[in-house]
Amino acid sequence: MSTPLSQTQMLLELEPVVEENLNRHLRMAKEWFPHEYVPWSEGRDFDGPLGGEAWTVEDSSMSDVARSALIVNLLTEDNLPSYHHEIATLFGREAAWGDWVHRWTAEEGRHGIAIRDYLLTTRAVDPAELERLRMQHMSTGYSNGHPDDMLASLAYVSFQELATRVSHRNTGKVTDDPVADQLLARVAADENLHMVFYRNLLGAALEIAPDQTMRSITDVVKTFQMPGADIAGFQRKAVEMAIAGVYDIRQHRDDVVAPVLRYWKVFELENLGPEGEQARTELADFLEELDKQALRFEEKRDKLQARMAARAER
Ligand SMILES: [Fe+2]
Ligand SMILES: [Fe+2]
Repeated sequence: MSTPLSQTQMLLELEPVVEENLNRHLRMAKEWFPHEYVPWSEGRDFDGPLGGEAWTVEDSSMSDVARSALIVNLLTEDNLPSYHHEIATLFGREAAWGDWVHRWTAEEGRHGIAIRDYLLTTRAVDPAELERLRMQHMSTGYSNGHPDDMLASLAYVSFQELATRVSHRNTGKVTDDPVADQLLARVAADENLHMVFYRNLLGAALEIAPDQTMRSITDVVKTFQMPGADIAGFQRKAVEMAIAGVYDIRQHRDDVVAPVLRYWKVFELENLGPEGEQARTELADFLEELDKQALRFEEKRDKLQARMAARAER
């Protein structure tokens, strides 16, 4: 492999691409207002200083899995300052990079505001539990598994933004509430634009430093974890969400990882050296393994659903 580019060299090389894609983003992004998506007329005071009514589970007919998914999605948005820190540290706050980091942060902040306002107004989840989880989650902070590797961070966010898009979209569906569905579809549209930004950037990196970038992509795909993975009780919630088809391993492989890799044409690149080839082979093997895992998961879920259906008939 030719001498790898340093982080600073890479940042400088990518700067014009950031600027171009920031402008693209600003052209494409539509202004929208969280307050327009929240059914305020359904709201009422809670207990505490205002002497309203305490939350009870009967306040909302939302299913358990919808509650879990909404909480996971919101807590992920809430943890924004920690992501901001991570991205600002890695990408810097100079010129177009800085403009992007701030703009991105403001947009993600809007997501948290909108979802929280909706949840509290409709009494869909326990507000005290939600606040405790938020405190706990934010106190843990966030750090991606590749603290010094800008390319790996770009690869991670390319997949992660698409993953959150899929998760928001499917959460909207399982809420069975057209108001929530509309709000989460709006949020998901933002996540898609974020994905496009990072994906285009990493696409440019693949041209500038193919072997180095290929290695980062492989490492990220092999170790990918959803952003909420350290939320208290996440595992149980993640299983619930997978069974309900909000976010499962099949969707992860086929609807998140595969389309981004396809966009980068990783399996068609002809400019890889031995290190890049090695990374690409590992990636292909891993995708096959992921496919097997997805099949096993689907079989288990089918059986579980058949059992549940049989029980419901009894
Ligand atoms: Fe978001
Ligand atoms: Fe996003």
